[in-house]
Amino acid sequence: MKSISELSDMAGRVTLITGAAGYIGRAVSEAVAELGSNLILLDIDAGGLQKLSSQLSDKYGVNVEFLELDLADEHAIAEVPEFISDTMGRLDVLINNAAYVGTSDVSGWVTQFEEQSVGTWKQAMDVNLTSAFALSQSCVKLLRSSGNGAIINIGSIYGVYGPDLSLYEGTSMGNPAAYSVSKGGLLQLTRWLATVLGPDVRVNTLSPGGVYRSQPEKFCERYILRTPLARMANEEDFKGAVAFLASDMSSYVTGQNIMVDGGWGVW
Ligand SMILES: NC(=O)c1ccc[n+]([C@@H]2O[C@H](COP(=O)([O-])OP(=O)(O)OC[C@H]3O[C@@H](n4cnc5c(N)ncnc54)[C@H](O)[C@@H]3O)[C@@H](O)[C@H]2O)c1
Repeated sequence: MKSISELSDMAGRVTLITGAAGYIGRAVSEAVAELGSNLILLDIDAGGLQKLSSQLSDKYGVNVEFLELDLADEHAIAEVPEFISDTMGRLDVLINNAAYVGTSDVSGWVTQFEEQSVGTWKQAMDVNLTSAFALSQSCVKLLRSSGNGAIINIGSIYGVYGPDLSLYEGTSMGNPAAYSVSKGGLLQLTRWLATVLGPDVRVNTLSPGGVYRSQPEKFCERYILRTPLARMANEEDFKGAVAFLASDMSSYVTGQNIMVDGGWGVW
């Protein structure tokens, strides 16, 4: 029987992480690098990628390649497998983590329902959902031939639950329908792919709760009151679940959604 350290060992494997230059992307990349996986870091933010890739190769001694790419561009996504084959020659794990999260000053995004625009809706769908479909599809041949293929989709509590708008009262924060719906779509994509790609590739979702990023105090207080573990998340909170889902620790787990939300949804 394999030990836990053998099951979690990802030495020689290759993990592609989208949105790697973001807050959660960096933590997720660290987690799999620490287990020995080589990395392909993908993001639209070239500077962030460059910095992270040298940090991780220095710290963990793994091979790291990075790819600056706009996930809203389906033609660019179609070229990703060639990049993987030319650089690493294999792919074991794909983590669809990038998302269009907008900001409160983007018109038609964080606003009341009547004013949310089709333009921002489409942008969110393109990056959050369509790119996960297209990238999974373009990488499926490589993932199938891995022998340990896995896809992890990064969802959200808002892919599972409706928003409680009273949390945002008196702040410039909000909860666009498109964000929630794109994350709900990822959950169904996970289930669909899990049945279709098994037994070659496992497919799971990790759904984070809200991460503390200096949001207004009023919001944080209300959020924490609703959270059994009585705090907002930090990026480190997701490392364990990613390590589990990416490695052979979860070799009999597919089609699942792991809520890493401090118990937000258990009331
Ligand atoms: N922060 C939270 O509270 C929270 C809560 C639940 C779920 N999530 C999810 O976690 C994931 C990571 O979020 P984060 O908080 O690290 O956000 P972030 O904004 O720090 O990171 C997102 C990354 O995606 C990249 N990206 C955006 N659009 C892109 C595109 N078109 N092409 C390529 N890259 C693109 C950005 O450059 C950025 O580096 C997202 O899927 C998000 O929806 C976050």
